[in-house]
Amino acid sequence: MLTVSNLSFGYGRKLVLKEINLECEPMLTAIIGPNATGKSTLLRCIAGLMKHQGSVTLNGKIIDGEDASRFVSYLPQENGTPIALTVLEAVLLGRHQSLSWRVSRDDLDLVFCVLEDLGIEELATRPLNQLSGGQQQMVSIAQSLVREPQVLLMDEPTSSLDLYRQIEIFNLIREVTWRRGMITLVAIHDLNLAARYADRIVVMDKGRIYATGDPSEILNPEMISSVYNVKADVYIDKNDLPVVVPMVSASQIKKTKMGHCGRFLDAQLISGNK
Ligand SMILES: Nc1ncnc2c1ncn2[C@@H]1O[C@H](COP(=O)(O)OP(=O)(O)O)[C@@H](O)[C@H]1O
Ligand SMILES: [Mg+2]
Repeated sequence: MLTVSNLSFGYGRKLVLKEINLECEPMLTAIIGPNATGKSTLLRCIAGLMKHQGSVTLNGKIIDGEDASRFVSYLPQENGTPIALTVLEAVLLGRHQSLSWRVSRDDLDLVFCVLEDLGIEELATRPLNQLSGGQQQMVSIAQSLVREPQVLLMDEPTSSLDLYRQIEIFNLIREVTWRRGMITLVAIHDLNLAARYADRIVVMDKGRIYATGDPSEILNPEMISSVYNVKADVYIDKNDLPVVVPMVSASQIKKTKMGHCGRFLDAQLISGNK
């Protein structure tokens, strides 16, 4: 069990996370919420990368600093500029956090097994910095899986992936989570992906936990209106899963078209400034 108790954090003076309390069991928990609400910051705090108030414990033991890196695998939202390694080297590096001559047969087998699971084994000898954004994201996912962590934290892992890959990756994350009994937390924007794959959803709003629970109890029009300021219908599909359908009213479309920029452009056109 991963327990976050009274966790608060600010970059400088402004608090970004306010007294977060959370208990996560071995299952797939999705963290949802609007932009800038603190999802990434919370994952960074749990990964032991930020000095925060409050505590994070794994099975009752406080984890921070080195402990965190031993038990926790963290896949950040942005991965920076890729280094000039091959995919195979990069994923091995994910396993050992250092490249040495002591790479065992088992390590290589595990790396190939994960690359195969992800369907990217043919990329193994390609340099990372020549891959597309989506392919690089797949390699990052491989890097975090080969660590065989107890706690897997993933920040928007499928944001650069096409629909097919998104579904494939979430199937895999869910399967690995259950097979290895991992505590997996995934920050995700797509409410319908969260509904379909998460065992539990945590909703964050303005640095606080707004609600936690089953997808079918959490995803409702009131929450979506209150947290996202969007009117939406939620219906239950034939697999008993909630499906969110945002409703965009005619007045909203009109407002967007005639917003500040729209009026500015109109004025330019009228004055002949094309
Ligand atoms: N490195 C940073 N320095 C200062 N402020 C930051 C930094 N990273 C994030 N923030 C601010 O913290 C808030 C929460 O950001 P973040 O955790 O990235 O939100 P989310 O992942 O939910 O979009 C935002 O207001 C953001 O501008
Ligand atoms: Mg984020």
